[in-house]
Order: sequence, then C-alpha cells, then structure tokens
Amino acid sequence: MLRHYLELKSRYPEEIVLYRVGDFYEMFFEDAVRASKLLDIALTSRDKHSPDPVPLCGVPHHSVSSYIARLIGLGRKVVVCDQVEDPRLAQGLVRREVTRVITPGTLLEEEHLEARGNNFLLGLAARGGRFGIAYLDLSTGEFRATEIQEERAATEEVARIDPREVLVAEDLASGSGFATRWRVLEGRCVNVIETARFERSHAEALLREQFGVASLDAFGCDALDPALGAAGTLVAYARATQMTAVGHLARLVPYALSDYMVLDDPTRRNLELTETLREGRREGSLLGVIDRTVSAMGSRTLRRWVLYPLLRPETIMRRLDAVEELLAKRTACTTLRGRLGTLSDMERINARVSAGRATARDLVGLRRSLEAVPTILATLSQLSAAFFAPKDPSGPKPLLGPEGRDPERGDLSEPRLPIDPLPDVASLIARAIVDDPPMNPRDGGFIRPGYHVGLDDLRDLSRHGKGWIAELEARERERTQIASLKIRYNKVFGYYIEITKANLAHVPPEYERRQTLANAERYVTPELKAWETKVLTAEDEAAALERQIFEDVRARVQEASLRIQETAAALARLDAVTALTQVAHEHRYTRPVVDEGDAITIVEGRHPVIERMNLGERFVPNDVHLDRTSHQILILTGPNMAGKSTVLRQTALITLLAQVGSFVPAKSARIGLVDRIFTRVGAADNLARGQSTFMVEMIEAANILHHATRRSLVVLDEIGRGTSTFDGISIAWAIAEHLHARVGARTLFATHYHELTDLARTLPRVRNYHIAVKEWSGQVIFLRKLREGGTSRSYGIEVARLAGLPTDVIARAREVLENLERGELDVSGAPRLAAHPAQREKGATAQLGLFAGATERERPLRDLLRAVDLDTLTPIEALNLLHRLKHEAAPPEAEGESEG
Ligand SMILES: Nc1ncnc2c1ncn2[C@@H]1O[C@H](COP(=O)(O)OP(=O)(O)OP(=O)(O)O)[C@@H](O)[C@H]1O
Ligand SMILES: [Mg+2]
Repeated sequence: MLRHYLELKSRYPEEIVLYRVGDFYEMFFEDAVRASKLLDIALTSRDKHSPDPVPLCGVPHHSVSSYIARLIGLGRKVVVCDQVEDPRLAQGLVRREVTRVITPGTLLEEEHLEARGNNFLLGLAARGGRFGIAYLDLSTGEFRATEIQEERAATEEVARIDPREVLVAEDLASGSGFATRWRVLEGRCVNVIETARFERSHAEALLREQFGVASLDAFGCDALDPALGAAGTLVAYARATQMTAVGHLARLVPYALSDYMVLDDPTRRNLELTETLREGRREGSLLGVIDRTVSAMGSRTLRRWVLYPLLRPETIMRRLDAVEELLAKRTACTTLRGRLGTLSDMERINARVSAGRATARDLVGLRRSLEAVPTILATLSQLSAAFFAPKDPSGPKPLLGPEGRDPERGDLSEPRLPIDPLPDVASLIARAIVDDPPMNPRDGGFIRPGYHVGLDDLRDLSRHGKGWIAELEARERERTQIASLKIRYNKVFGYYIEITKANLAHVPPEYERRQTLANAERYVTPELKAWETKVLTAEDEAAALERQIFEDVRARVQEASLRIQETAAALARLDAVTALTQVAHEHRYTRPVVDEGDAITIVEGRHPVIERMNLGERFVPNDVHLDRTSHQILILTGPNMAGKSTVLRQTALITLLAQVGSFVPAKSARIGLVDRIFTRVGAADNLARGQSTFMVEMIEAANILHHATRRSLVVLDEIGRGTSTFDGISIAWAIAEHLHARVGARTLFATHYHELTDLARTLPRVRNYHIAVKEWSGQVIFLRKLREGGTSRSYGIEVARLAGLPTDVIARAREVLENLERGELDVSGAPRLAAHPAQREKGATAQLGLFAGATERERPLRDLLRAVDLDTLTPIEALNLLHRLKHEAAPPEAEGESEG
C-alpha cells in the first residue's frame, strides 16, 4: 500500500494527500507532520516497532469535510484518494484512485464557501509589455479577463478581485523583484505554472472547445493576448482539479479598466467599502449598510457593483430609473423581494450540476427557485423601466452578438434581464425527485414513485419481500408452535430464524443450523434463502437504478446550464436593485443627478455609515461643492474630532454610490462623472507591509499625482502628517500646488496645518473651509457644520484636555504653541510659506491688502501674552489672565463661535 501511496504522492508533492484506509483518511510522512500541526491532531506512526517508523495521522471519514475545509482555509491544497472498489469484493489490495483535488480557488461545496462572496481563481501572465489577468469563480461560472499596461495598475486590479488562488506564468514570477512588486499575492495560494501553458494559440483552442464555438470573436476577446493565455490556463487547471467537465464555464467576459471607476487598494480600504479598516468586518462598512439583498447571488452582485462603479451616465441612469420606479411601486418591490428571498443559490447549484456533484436536495432547491420565477416575471411586467425589460425571445442567441459582453457595461441595445422560468427543467425535477430528499444520498428514496416503471417494480418487490418475511414468521410460529420464533437479518448471515434453547425440541427437521449462541440457535431454510436473494437483489438493483436515474436527470438539467446561469445572474441583478430600493426607502436617500459636467454639488449630504451608528448625537448633514473653475481644491481645517474626515469620506461615498446607480444620503446631489476616486489618509498604519508609514504615504501620494486626471476626485486626509511638521507642511503645500496647476482634479484636503489655508491667497481655485465649533464656558462644542473660511486653531490642546492630559502638560503645551505661532508670518505680514525664493525681491507686499480677518483679531491677544512673565505668575493670576484672554478672543457677533 505504501508503495502505491508514494507513487501517487510523487505526482502531488505540494498538496496534502488524504489516503482512504478503512474508516479513516490517513496522511503519511511529511504530510502527516504538516497536517498534524495544521489540524492539531495526534501524530503517530504506522509501525511503532520498526527502527524507522512512518509518521502517520488520520481523520475519520465521516468528518473529513471539516478537516478539508480547515486545510483549504489555511491556503493548502488537498488531494483525496478514495477506495474505488468494494473492500469486501477486492482481491488483494483495494484499488484506490484520486477522486478529487481540492484547492482554495476551485471549491464548489456550499459548506466551504462564503455565500455572500466570490471565490476567485486568477491567472496572471505578461507578454508584449501587457499584463493579462483572467479570473473565474468555479462555484458560479463567472469568468472575466482584462489586460493592463501598467504593472502597478495590474496589481491594484488583482487586489480588487481578491482571489483565493493564483496561477502565475513562470517567466513573470521568476523576474527580479516580482515578490516585492506583487506583494498583493502574499498570503494567497500561488501556483507557478510553466510559461508555455499560457501560450495564446494553445489557450485559444482550449477555450473554443470549452465554449463549443468555432471562434472567440463573439466574446470580444480578439484583442486579448496574455489574458487569453491566462484564461486558457485557468480552464485547464479547473478541469484537472475537478476531474470532470466544467461545462458551466460557458463564456468569457472581457473588460477594460476604463470601463469602470478605478478604485485602488488604499481607496477601497479607507472608504471601508466592503469591510472595516481596523477589524475587517462587514458590519460598519458601506456594504454593511446598503447590502439589503435577500439572496446570496444578489449579495455577490451588489458587492461587484460597489467595487466596479459605472462611468456612463446612461447605464447609471438605467439603474437609477429602476430604483426610482420600485420606490414608487412599493407592492411590486415587496412582492419581488419576497420571491427573491426564497431562491436557492442557483449559480452554485448550477456549477455543481455541471461538475456532476449536485445532490438531489440541490435539484429540489433549483426547482423551488424556478417555481418562484413566474411570479417574478408577472411582477416585472408591471414595471416599465428599461432595466426590467425581459429578454426578447426572438433576439440573438446567447454567445452570439453583444450578449457575450458584460451586460452591465453599457450596450443599450441589449436585453437586460434574460429571466427564463425554465419550465422544462422545473417540471423534470418535479416529476423525478421527491419533495424532501434524504440528507444522505446513500439512503436512497430520492426518486419520486411513478417516475420510472422499472424502479417502481423493484421497490414493490423489496417491499413485498419484507412483507412476505413477516408472513413467513407468523406461518412458522403457527406450524412449530414456538411463540418466540423470530426471523431477523444481519449482514453476515442475511435472514435467519432464531429459536431459543428452551424450544429446540420443536425445531422442524428441514431447518439448517447456521450459528449457535448462548441461549439460542439460528437456522435458515431453502425457502427463506431463495426469498432473501430476490429481496436483497431487488434492493441493490433499486439503489443502483435510482443512482442511474438521478445521474440521468442531472445530465438533462446540465444541458440547460447556460440558461440557468443567465437566469440566475439576472435574478441576482434584480435582487441588487431591490436592495438599493430598500435602503433608499428606509434611510431616505434621494436620486442623484449624474452628468458629464465638472461639478460635484451635494446638499445636506450625510455619511451613510456614521449616520446609522448610535452616536448619542444627531448626525449633522453638510453641503459640499466642488468644480474645476473656482472650487477645485477645498482645504478643510478644524479642531480634532470636529468631523473633517467624515465630510471627506461622505463626499467620496456619495459620489461612488451615485455611480453605482444607487440613491444617495443627501437632500440632493449632482455628480459630474468621476473616473477615479483616490483617498489617502496620512500616517495610516501600514506596519504589516514592512514599509515605514511615511514611505507608504509618499508612495501613495506619488501614485495620485501620476494617475489622477481632470475627472478624478482626490481626497487627502492629513497627508504629510507622518514626518516632521516643516517637512510635512512643505510636502502638503507642494502637492496641493501641483494638483492645482497640473492635474486639475477635484480635491478635498483635510489638514491640521492651518498654514495651508494660505494657499487660497495665491491659488485661484483653492477655497478654505472649516468645521465650526463653539466655545462655551471653557468647553468646545462640536457643531459639525462646514463653513467657508479657514481656521487658525486646531483645538488639539482642548481635545487633549478633554482626554485627561495632566493640567501642567496642557499649560505648557499652550506656551509652546504660542511660541510656534509667532513665527508664522514674515516681516511684511505675508504667509511665509507662499513665497518663492526666486521672487523674493518682488516681495509679498502686493498681498498685504488681502491680509486681514482672523489674525488681525488675534494680534492684541498675542501682545498681551507676550507681556506675561511666566516665572512670576501665580496660579490665581494665571486664571485671571485666561479669563481675560477668553473675553478678548470672543468675536463680537456670535458669542464665542469660532469662525476661524
Ligand atoms: N456631521 C456629523 N454629525 C454627527 N457626528 C459627527 C459628524 N461628523 C463627525 N461626527 C462624529 O465625530 C467623530 C469624529 O469625526 P472625524 O473623525 O470626522 O473628525 P476629524 O475632524 O477628522 O478629527 P481628527 O482631526 O482628529 O482626525 C465621528 O466619529 C463621529 O462620531
Ligand atoms: Mg480625521
């Protein structure tokens, strides 16, 4: 046996081989050592007396799937080797074969998969200066490909796809610096594959065969080269691991990065689109609020919508129209959601059907889902938005024409919701499979009586056979006058007659003794044996026939694979749109206007997530206006805790939601299309990546300056914070100037360096805003209101005081602050930072007139403070002084409200 094992293991050096022995799956040698650690199970050895015992560990066969799930969860690949003949019938060694190769990226079983997420296997190759990316979810049939010129963008896209497992072409993987540049692959299951397998012609032939088409043109893949190679490699890998056909991989959807809004990794994480930054939880993320889908398929679709916002007003409008109509027609929406909520995960059932791994319960789940479709279609017929238009039955056949393309990408001539109730499939399953099949298929009894005459006869026979045995028992008791005579069954002897010792005298002569027990004897009769053979064969035959019928039904369902897949995808989209409707309804979102203009105008915008949290205070909405003529860069200052980051993020989130085609948390919003959103948070913790925080911050900033366009939305939250103040201010200043002069991107810039408010004095499209607070009897009250104008104070010390820093530390901090602020202006009163050395001679005198406002008012205060001799000041005097200062500082109009 070990020889067979080793021969097999040599084919799977990396994987962990689970080798069926009796009632266990065993692992040997290194696999045993590795697995016992990973699974925390006992490591023993096979022959303890030998000088060099073989390490061994094992798991019981009935719970193997939970162990497999854990190994897969740890990114391992598992090979299952089963006994493929009945050990009772085997001559010599039981024949064993690999029945499955299970890898993280090729899972099909529901228990191993996250219902609301995809499980992507990704292929990666580079050729001719382009990176080819293809990815598929074997559990749903989703299969996409794209090519990207720039390496960093390619890594970003891989991060957005977030694959569980990756196949990389060897030439790419072995290139110098690959591991550093492709950090995104860290922690994923990565397989390096021979470069030759990514060859285009090879891949093309394979894909043509897979899709059953003469040419791939219909898919719009003609321009792809390395991506096509990657796609072909994926299909080959899927086949090899499944060891079956993967017929549900029926189309490849090419896309370009420019089809969707670009959201790089830091942006997705900072905006907490799918999970929170700190804990990685879904709750507290944007999806956590807006994912009100009622089916797993819908949830996956909405997730994709959020990660891939749209760029064309007409496709965005199509979703918005759908939400608007459903909002107006509440009953229709409720009916739809009610029905969609009963759907099984049709995509995943379909995948299991294709891989020959669907159970009877799966088929019943599919049938019940299909039975919900007619009501859904009837409800859709009451709706008129283009999104709901059903498929035109006389339209082009699937896979030809534009249907191979991503239906959401924008071709308006295309049918939107190809929902097919598949009555043939539903009725086939209804006729063939019982309503509630047993959990364990081995129990049999899942084919409905009346579906197959031969099966019914065999079942009759075995049932009557059992009745006959009962009759025989009665007859024999009567005849022998032994009241305790029993006919029983066991695996070794089959049916037998049992007579207690006390009654042995009455045993008829034709009984043949088979076994003697302590107080009974067991007999058979020729008559009994003859019946037994008939009954048992009938049972076995019925079981075999049942399996065969089931496989046949499954094969016929498989023929409808593509129709099921299309219908499932359409239902998923419908679910996503009803979810958006539900959020809009519950949280009072409004319809945004999305146009080609350059303005972003949000009136009374809210942060979708923070407004839902229990803060102990009402959420205060804010207005934000950005455009490219006068409000291109908003510098946002204000005390700590005031709500700067919140305004920044809500603006980005409202923009993103609008382009997803969702209503938005605002009184009104007009969004001039945004091609990319960049958000960067200064000094974000990035220790895990092994780079210094500041280095990361600067890499991110460089990336923005290189990639932002006039259409982008740039959100910078305290960029430059990670270094010394002067360096930080200087860098932030220069970045803002560059964005103003060169890039032209609409930008929100929150900062505590109020020196940056001076930018507005020299740059025409920079505007200062601050978040108002009110000081009242020594307290800072957060008003949360965004107001025009800068602020000269951060109230950082106030916040520190609130946080309980010792009073002497607070007092000293105030002194130091004062010293620092003295140096802010040059002799002429102009902001020192705005000066260009080359222009120094000309001086900043021209700007003197502009110089007024906040600092003007503060001047007497400074003079007062300068006069104080701290060495002689008593505590009482200090308090009095503070009192006076406070009085002086209060602006005349609003009592103590800081307008900066
Ligand atoms: N508009 C608002 N309405 C109600 N509460 C708000 C609002 N904005 C912010 N908050 C509350 O204030 C907290 C702090 O907000 P935020 O992080 O945006 O402040 P910040 O100005 O960025 O502070 P820091 O300068 O320390 O980064 C939020 O977590 C939230 O609880
Ligand atoms: Mg902040």
